[in-house]
Amino acid sequence: MNSNEETLYYRLGGSKEIRQIIDDMYDLVLADPLLSGFFENVDMPKQRQMQSEFIAAALGGPEKYGGLDLPYAHAGRGITSKHLTAFVGHLLTVLENRGVSDNDIHGVVSRINTYANDITGATSSDG
Ligand code: HEM
Repeated sequence: MNSNEETLYYRLGGSKEIRQIIDDMYDLVLADPLLSGFFENVDMPKQRQMQSEFIAAALGGPEKYGGLDLPYAHAGRGITSKHLTAFVGHLLTVLENRGVSDNDIHGVVSRINTYANDITGATSSDG
């Protein structure tokens, strides 16, 4: 990334907008029968907050993520690449609906995908 003004974080609109994006994404995730079961016993207000912090920091924002390490938070839940693809697909839908440019959508998804193995526990590219 270059100067702060050029980070994805600022182009998406900063902290408040990212929180809104994450809220909209979880609304879709919780309405998706493939994914909703994973979040049945999860404290969703906390989850929305943690995810917003994480994504904001990952996109170059000043937020400090105060949650668990991603591999630890996701281990043993049976999350596969199929679930991850669906999850990221909902994020994509929200970004498209908000009129984010294709270039920035690509930037966000590429950044998120760098965490894929932390989420699925994959050690190779299969699955
Ligand atoms: C790249 C995509 C993802 C990112 C960046 C991400 C990030 C996070 C973060 C930051 C937390 C909070 C950890 C904490 O509470 O300290 C979390 C928790 C969690 N994630 Fe993800 N996640 C992703 C994908 C997924 C997927 C695909 C699923 C399931 C389909 C999932 C299921 C969960 C669950 C169930 C928790 C709650 C843990 C708990 O509090 O009991 N995540 N995730």
